[in-house]
Amino acid sequence: MSGSEPIPPANLPLAARAPGKCILFGEHAVVHGRAELLLAIDLPLQVGISPSARSSLNRDSAAPDTNPYFHAALERLWTGGPPVELHVTSRIPRAAGLGSSAAFSAALSAGFSAARGGVDRAGLAERAFSVERGAQGVGSPGDTAAVVAGGYVSVNGPGESELFRLTDGERRWTVRRVKDPSWSWVVAYSGIPRSTASAVRAVGERLSAPDGEALLDRFHALAEAGIRAVVAEDRAEVGRLLDENQGLLAQVGVSHPRLEALLAAARPAVVGGKLTGAGAGGSVVVLPMPGRELEAARRIARAGGLPFVVRTETNGASLVAAPVEETGGDPSAS
Ligand code: MEV
Repeated sequence: MSGSEPIPPANLPLAARAPGKCILFGEHAVVHGRAELLLAIDLPLQVGISPSARSSLNRDSAAPDTNPYFHAALERLWTGGPPVELHVTSRIPRAAGLGSSAAFSAALSAGFSAARGGVDRAGLAERAFSVERGAQGVGSPGDTAAVVAGGYVSVNGPGESELFRLTDGERRWTVRRVKDPSWSWVVAYSGIPRSTASAVRAVGERLSAPDGEALLDRFHALAEAGIRAVVAEDRAEVGRLLDENQGLLAQVGVSHPRLEALLAAARPAVVGGKLTGAGAGGSVVVLPMPGRELEAARRIARAGGLPFVVRTETNGASLVAAPVEETGGDPSAS
């Protein structure tokens, strides 16, 4: 389950799960081929997939608009397959930058792949990226790679063993394992939902300005330094680099007064922090001073955020024993 085991064959009904994710360095720049560091977090999402008696379900003409990720998965991984129903349970807030769409894409890809004979982990990383990218239209494979692999991963940056090589036909991304410092983090949703696709397009336009390449180089250098500091377990340096990365994200226009307010509220209990994910709303991540996780979470909650103290989820996307009984749904954005 952690990074390398294949998804075995299984019959419907079945259930698959995947963790949420948090980006520590390099969001947005990774879309343009630069380095990124992510970790899979212990907020799980589970999808039950069962045969459906409603034969028109998979051919609903409104599906691309109402269920873009489900539709993208059906198109790519379930052509000619029998109608299915999904049952989704999730602890990951939707449209919050914490990986709900990546986890949904990865769990659904794992489930469909199992029902079609299984897939190795690199194949699952490709499929989950193709589903998320198909639904979003833009973006990098960073989020889906992290939730497929579990643990800490770098994209186009330093690391230990190589896990996956992914491409969209134009750009290439190499995903590597990064050593886990076993820290607790606090992530917090601002309550402001946002669209990954529109934030990615707005940043793309900003980066087409004459200083765009220089900005991308700064994002890249920061992410590389951040990865080295995490591996060295240098908490103070990681905090400093998180703050610096937040400054760059504000410069490309994806911070938000609510995010800045949450970061300011947490400040006395943390070594640093930044927005995480696409920004323009969504969530923040802060690195607490040792033993002050709950204080950081309380400060953020008092400032109106929805905090979670999270640890690394080392298990990537995997099958689970049986489907859960819950209401259906498809996150319409990450
Ligand atoms: C979104 O979670 C992260 C972005 O870098 C987009 C992407 O990598 O696909 C903003």
